[in-house]
Amino acid sequence: MQICRTIADIRAAVAAFRAAGESVGLVTTMGALHEGHMALMAEAKGGHDRVVATIFVNPTQFGEAADLAAYPRTEAADIEMLEAAGVDAVLIPEPGEIYPEHDETIVETPRLASIGHGAVRPGHFRGVTTVVARLFNIVLPDAAYFGEKDYQQLAVIRRMTRDLHFPLAIRGVATVRAPDGLALSSRNARLAPEDRAAAPVLKRALDAGAALARPGVAVADIAAAMRDVVAAEPRARLEQLDIVDPNSFLPATGPLTHPVGVMISARFGPAADPVLLIDQMELAP
Ligand code: PAF
Repeated sequence: MQICRTIADIRAAVAAFRAAGESVGLVTTMGALHEGHMALMAEAKGGHDRVVATIFVNPTQFGEAADLAAYPRTEAADIEMLEAAGVDAVLIPEPGEIYPEHDETIVETPRLASIGHGAVRPGHFRGVTTVVARLFNIVLPDAAYFGEKDYQQLAVIRRMTRDLHFPLAIRGVATVRAPDGLALSSRNARLAPEDRAAAPVLKRALDAGAALARPGVAVADIAAAMRDVVAAEPRARLEQLDIVDPNSFLPATGPLTHPVGVMISARFGPAADPVLLIDQMELAP
């Protein structure tokens, strides 16, 4: 696997793949890799001659400096996992490489970015689209792979890709879960053991919603059932629950007639230094 620290190096690696007539799949990550990322690598590998990964803890998508500082960094282990997964090249840039001096260009889907999870983390999705657009332009892949766990992120990236006419496909990959249902996330490593034991409540809430999701059932009743599940777990502090139309991301209301996106987030651990976990999925009546 080629380990590239600069844009010039990764572009040279991709140019060599292209010169050999090979297709390229891209998986962007912030490192601290786990089996969820490996599922993305495996999908990319199945679909392309070459897989390029990126590891970049993107400062612009973090609201609080403390959250950015606390984000796990496990570069040596990440490189081993990427090599074992058969990834061909990885870009691991310094922030100044992606955000050059006097940088000022942003990419934003203003409406989609300000609702749902975006309302809890103002500026987060602007940071995501800004960095993903840059990574797309750097690597110029045929397709890029993102987890369905981040349902709203996937929608935001699809919208940006379509609106800016990026010539690549966006592929969603099913969420990988621990045996107790907790969606794998790099943030899970920050949970105290008691909070790790409590965290599957998010999946239980989604399951409660899925169990009710039949044509004609009121969306408000689904939301109430999900809230009850979280309320029964004293270690979880519900942050946000949104049930939305999958295209407009406007709140779904009334009786269920078509699939809806369900996005739930909760904080665990000390109020001064909580861990925000999210889980999201589409429910079909
Ligand atoms: O999902 C992530 O890990 C990040 O938001 C992404 C897409 C790599 C952008 O920094």
